[in-house]
Formats: sequence, C-alpha cells, structure tokens
Amino acid sequence: MNLSPITISLLLTLLSPSLLSISGVSVEDESHPTVCIIGSGIGGSSVAHFLRNYSTSTALSRSRILMFERHERVGGRMRTVTVSGDTFEAGGSILHPKNYHARDFVERFNLTVRLPSAIEESSAVGIWDGKRFVFKTFGASVKIPFVDKIVSWMNDVYLFVRYGFSLLRMSSFVENTVDNFLKYYESLETRPVFDSVEGMLKWSGLYNLTKVTLEEKLSEVQLSTLLVNELVTVITRINYGQSVLISGLAGAVSLAGSGGGLWSVEGGNWQMAAKLINHSDVTLHLNEEIKSVSHIGSYYELKSTKGNSFKCDVTVVSTPLDEVDIQFSPAITIPKRELQHTHATFVRGLLNPGYFGMKSVSDVPALVGTLEDPLIPFSSISILRKYSATDMTYKIFTRQAASDSLLDELFSVRTETVWIDWGAYPKYHAPEVFAPFILDDHHLYYVNTFENAASTMETSAVSGENMARLIVSRFRTTKESSSSPYLDTTRSCNSGLHSNV
Ligand SMILES: Cc1cc2nc3c(=O)[nH]c(=O)nc-3n(C[C@H](O)[C@H](O)[C@H](O)COP(=O)(O)OP(=O)(O)OC[C@H]3O[C@@H](n4cnc5c(N)ncnc54)[C@H](O)[C@@H]3O)c2cc1C
Ligand SMILES: *[C@@H]1O[C@H](CO)[C@@H](O)[C@H](O)[C@H]1NC(C)=O
Ligand SMILES: *[C@@H]1O[C@H](CO)[C@@H](O)[C@H](O)[C@H]1NC(C)=O
Ligand SMILES: *[C@@H]1O[C@H](CO)[C@@H](O)[C@H](O)[C@H]1NC(C)=O
Ligand SMILES: *[C@@H]1O[C@H](CO)[C@@H](O)[C@H](O)[C@H]1NC(C)=O
Repeated sequence: MNLSPITISLLLTLLSPSLLSISGVSVEDESHPTVCIIGSGIGGSSVAHFLRNYSTSTALSRSRILMFERHERVGGRMRTVTVSGDTFEAGGSILHPKNYHARDFVERFNLTVRLPSAIEESSAVGIWDGKRFVFKTFGASVKIPFVDKIVSWMNDVYLFVRYGFSLLRMSSFVENTVDNFLKYYESLETRPVFDSVEGMLKWSGLYNLTKVTLEEKLSEVQLSTLLVNELVTVITRINYGQSVLISGLAGAVSLAGSGGGLWSVEGGNWQMAAKLINHSDVTLHLNEEIKSVSHIGSYYELKSTKGNSFKCDVTVVSTPLDEVDIQFSPAITIPKRELQHTHATFVRGLLNPGYFGMKSVSDVPALVGTLEDPLIPFSSISILRKYSATDMTYKIFTRQAASDSLLDELFSVRTETVWIDWGAYPKYHAPEVFAPFILDDHHLYYVNTFENAASTMETSAVSGENMARLIVSRFRTTKESSSSPYLDTTRSCNSGLHSNV
C-alpha cells in the first residue's frame, strides 16, 4: 500500500513521541548530542574544554557534556596532600616552561604560578649507591633561587669533572626532543587531526624514540656509561620510578622534567582541571564510577556502580584502562599494559644521618637520588619544606609501600606520615605499542593511550586537545552522511526498539 508523504509525516508525528518516550530519548537529544567523559583529570577536562572551543557551528555545538568521576574530587593524579597543615603536590607536581597548554590554562583562569622554593631548587643532589654517596654536588651552601637547574649543575665543577662533555650532549638531546614536541602547538591549519598515537608521533618526528630504550638512545648520542648509570638513572627513577630501560621518548621527557624553569600551580595543580570543567558547561557527576559501557544501536549506555544509567552519543575514556574494571560491550581489545606503582610517602620529622654514614643531618643532600639496584629500598628522598634545622617535611618515592621499619631506619624523628599508593604511569618498554584512540570504529575514544608515549600533565592535555578535534571531525562526518530528517527519525526509532529487546 502506498502512503502519501502527508500520511507518513502524520504517522511519524503519532509514532515518534511514544517510541521515543519508551526509549527515554527526548526529541531534543537529536540536536543536543550527549558527550560522556569518564575521568576528571587533566585529560578529561582538556577534552571538555577543547570540545567547547572547537565545536562551535558543528553538529556538536549544542552538545551536553557529562563527566563522571569515581572519587569525590576532580583532578585525578593531580592532587595535594596536607602534612601538618601545609599542602604539597602528591602526584603530578612539576610543569616544564614549555608546557604551553598548562600555561594557557593558568593565564586563562587567573591561577597563580608557583616557582620552586629555595630548598626545592637547591642543587644539592646526592647519588646514593646503597653504601655511600658516589657523587654529591655542593649546592647547599650557595642558594640562588629559580636558577636553571641543569645550567647550575653544569656550572658545578664537580659535575663536570665527573661527567664531562656528555652533559652537553644530554642537554642537546633533550632540547631536540622538546623542539619536536612543540609541533603539537602549531596552528590548526598546519597541524592534522590524528587518529592514532603512531601517526601523531611520526608527524612530529618522535616515533622512533619509542622504538629504542633510553639507554640505547643515549649510547647512540655518545653519552658516557657513567652519566647514564648515575645521573640519568637518578632522574628516570624519580620521574617514572623506572630504570634507563624505559623508551627513549619517556626518557627524554623525564630528563626535560629535571631542567630549569620548572613551575607548578599555587594551591595545587588540580585547580587546572577544576577550572576547565567549571568553564566548559559540564554536568559533573562526582562519586559516580562507571562500570560498563555498552554500544546499543546508535548510542552508548553507561552504567554506574550507583545503579544509574546514562545515554551518550559519544563516550570518551580519560583514564588508564589497565587497572580499572569497566566492562565494554561489545568487548574491546587493547595491548596489555602494566602500570608502575609509585608510593609517595610524606614524613614530617628528621632524617637519620647515620643511615647515610654521616654525623650531621646537614651533610645529607636536599635531594637524595639512587642507582638502579634492587637492594636499595627507595628511589628518592627530598626535602619539601624546612621548618628548622631539625624539623622538615620530606617526600620519599618507593616502588613498594614504605614499611614502618624502613621509615624508622631512615628517620630519627617522625611526627607525621602520609602514605599514597599511585598507579602512577605505564611501565615503559621499547619498542612501545599503542592502543587506538578510537576503540570501536564508532564514537568510543581513549585519551590515555597517549601515556605510552609519555605520561605528564601536559601530554594528557595535548592528547585531549587532539581528541576534541578528532571527535568533532568524525561526528560531523557521520552526521552529514545521515542528515535527512527522515533518517534521523529512523535512528531514534531503532534505538527505541533495541532498548526494548
Ligand atoms: C607520583 C606521581 C608524580 C608525577 N609527577 C609528574 C610531574 O612532576 N609532572 C607531570 O607533568 N606529570 C607527573 N605525573 C603524571 C601526571 O600526574 C599524569 O600524567 C596526569 O595527571 C594524568 O592525567 P589524566 O587526566 O590523563 O589521568 P588521571 O589524572 O589519572 O585521571 C583519570 C580520572 O579518572 C577517574 N576514573 C577512573 N576510572 C573511573 C571510572 N570507572 N569511573 C569514573 N571515573 C573514573 C580517576 O579517579 C581519575 O580521577 C606524576 C604522576 C604521579 C602518580
Ligand atoms: C578557541 O580558543 C582560541 C584560542 O584561545 C580563541 O581565540 C577562540 O576565540 C576560541 N573559540 C571559541 C569558539 O571559544
Ligand atoms: C585574578 O587574581 C587576583 C589575585 O589572585 C585578583 O586580585 C584578581 O581580581 C583576579 N582577576 C580576575 C579577572 O579574576
Ligand atoms: C625513523 O626510522 C625510520 C626507519 O628506521 C627512518 O626511515 C626515519 O628516517 C626515522 N625518522 C626520524 C625522524 O629519525
Ligand atoms: C565553579 O563556578 C561556580 C559559579 O560559576 C562557582 O560558584 C564555583 O565556586 C566554581 N568552582 C570552582 C571549583 O572553581
């Protein structure tokens, strides 16, 4: 039987509301697509921010953004800890002077840059081999705040005597890598939208660095074994809790994070996420842990452990998937990846100089780094704040939880201790493999696959920015190919029927 156009539209008018109300989709949803973001760290909040910026006059311009965070606060691995009333960064702490997104966020939202305090900036570094300091700089006596640390290290005669011109070659390797990374800030006209980490890294010339270990790469650029096994090892152990067998790229990023001009956000880096979320018209669901993501017809259904369910046209995973329990339907497959756990322990008290074979605590360097030796029970110890010559706050990084007996050996006085166990960053390997940005050929995205390149606050923002562009470009393409009103109605009818099955 032939139906006239009028009959069809009449039928649709009659049918649609009932079908649509069964499926729970309101008519507005067709023009207000829903983007759901799982995770409120700097990655997820950057996606929200850049989506708002890039989606004007696109199919996503009037989208609703829902963000889910399993914890009661935003920021993820950006989080402060309070020790005796003073706050310190417990996770992501230092930003590089060329972390341009972070710098933009701070300016845009009127946050305040915090430069390292004299004690943090002190170039008094000691390298502990388990029995003695194989190397110690003399920084403690002359404190010039805010000087370039690498430069100050290089000016250190002792450092130069020990490591020689290898130090310069290390500097230039790091500078070259940073320069390549700066391509990710190029204008939208010259910078493509990347649909894979491999493509993104190849375009900037960084991909090859993920294929070799840092140790191999540094030997290729002729760094001395001594420098690699001592100073470089100290730095990778502090920044990634791992040895020089991490990839060359993670290693270069780690070395860049030991240079000068480093900064953080006054009051806590987590405020970057808070501000991004607050200024991006996001509906934030705190204490809402997503346990499943199901692709049903034309949309995703997210279910939380609270028993709530949400309908999303686009779903963005902004957390590492390695240690969370999210069920995907249909199932997704990504390369297996393990996270390196870093235990950050904060102690108010006083180090025991006897542990280091010293008579006076003032002989122990402000930053104690360590060599790669399974017998050394900690990665680093640093002074965060000096209240007096006998009363300080320290941060200790260990790969296993710091036991009370270890802390009792290390400290002669301990009035307060705070332990935090972080699933901190990937365990880096070379050659590195990457999970896809697009997990399912539809609209399920994964920001944190980029962490296999390097895990920092800025790299999460860079990945989030590209992700926003990718979502906008792919959502538009899909929409345009099905832009007739009739097809759109069919889509909602289909989804309505599916949800009844
Ligand atoms: C000890 C330590 C030191 C570091 N030092 C530095 C540094 O000095 N400089 C630097 O740049 N970087 C540093 N980093 C790395 C940096 O902190 C991270 O790379 C960055 O913060 C990651 O941000 P993200 O948004 O990608 O992930 P995250 O911050 O991990 O955000 C993911 C969020 O998702 C939430 N979530 C997870 N599963 C679910 C679920 N099922 N439902 C809802 N929510 C969920 C989590 O609770 C979390 O809030 C450090 C990290 C650690 C741990
Ligand atoms: C997007 O960000 C750029 C750079 O900050 C800004 O110039 C532009 O006005 C923003 N556009 C929108 C639509 O927010
Ligand atoms: C920015 O912050 C300063 C102090 O932190 C404050 O005095 C000023 O009013 C703020 N400006 C805006 C635009 O919020
Ligand atoms: C990366 O390695 C490939 C193959 O070895 C080589 O052809 C290419 O020139 C290298 N790229 C860079 C940027 O070094
Ligand atoms: C978010 O914005 C609202 C109003 O604009 C304000 O009341 C609230 O304090 C802000 N929250 C944060 C974390 O900045």
